[in-house]
Amino acid sequence: MATKPLIKALTEAGVGSRRRMADAIKQGKVKVNGVLAESFTQPVDVVKDRILFNGQPVNLEPDRVICLMLNKPEGIVSTVSDDKGRRTVLDILPSKYKQYRLYPVGRLDIDTTGLILLTNDGDLTYRLTHPKFEFEKEYLVAIKGSLTGEEKQQLQRGVLLEDGMTHPAKIREISQFPFNYSVIIHEGRKRQVRRMFEHLHHVVSALKRVRVGRLTLGDLKEGELRPLSPAEISTLLNG
Ligand code: URA
Repeated sequence: MATKPLIKALTEAGVGSRRRMADAIKQGKVKVNGVLAESFTQPVDVVKDRILFNGQPVNLEPDRVICLMLNKPEGIVSTVSDDKGRRTVLDILPSKYKQYRLYPVGRLDIDTTGLILLTNDGDLTYRLTHPKFEFEKEYLVAIKGSLTGEEKQQLQRGVLLEDGMTHPAKIREISQFPFNYSVIIHEGRKRQVRRMFEHLHHVVSALKRVRVGRLTLGDLKEGELRPLSPAEISTLLNG
C-alpha cells in the first residue's frame, strides 16, 4: 500500500523533522498535486501524488530504483547538462520523473537515435557499462552503397581505430529503410560504430540503437519512454 499520511511521507522522504514539516504545512509551504496541503494527516500516494515543498518537488521514495527506456530522438544530447545549451535527455522527460536523480547509462551521439536507459541506480549503471559484463548492443546502420565481403570480414574480425583494435562484431545485411546493416558490438567506445565504418571510408548517414542485452526498443516511438519492469531490472542486475 503506497498511501500514508502527508507528514509521515515528508519525514520519511528526509525533507525535515516532523516539527519542521508540521510548521511548513501550517505556513502553506506544501502542495499536493498543485493544491495547498490541508492537514498533516491527509493521505498521499507516494507513487502517484506530486508534492512540492517550498516549490521544489519532493522525492517520496528516495530509495526507489527507477530505470527508464527512452527512444532518443536526434538532436538531443545524452548528458545530464550541456554547456552549449542543447536539449538533454533529462529535458525531454515527463515532469513526474524530475524528482529522481536520473542520468543516462552510457552515451548515444547527438545524431544517433534509439535505446538509451536512464536510471538513478549505481549498481545498474555499473552492470551495464563495465566491459566484463559484455552486454551486446545492436545498432541499425545506414550507409550509401554496401560493404564488400572483405570489408564485412574486417569489421567482424576487428579494425584498428585510434584507441585500439575493436573486438569482433557481428554484421548482417538488412533492409529496413533507411538502414542497410545491423551491427552488434559489446564495447561502448565514443562514436565507435561510426568510426568503424569511417575506417573503411563509409559514412554512416543514420544510426539507431535497437537493443541492449535482452532489452529491445520494440515499438517505442522516437521521444517516447517506458519504465522497465522490476523483472527487467532484475534480469539486468542478475544476468
Ligand atoms: N556508436 C556510435 O558511433 N555512436 C553512438 O551513438 C553509439 C555507438
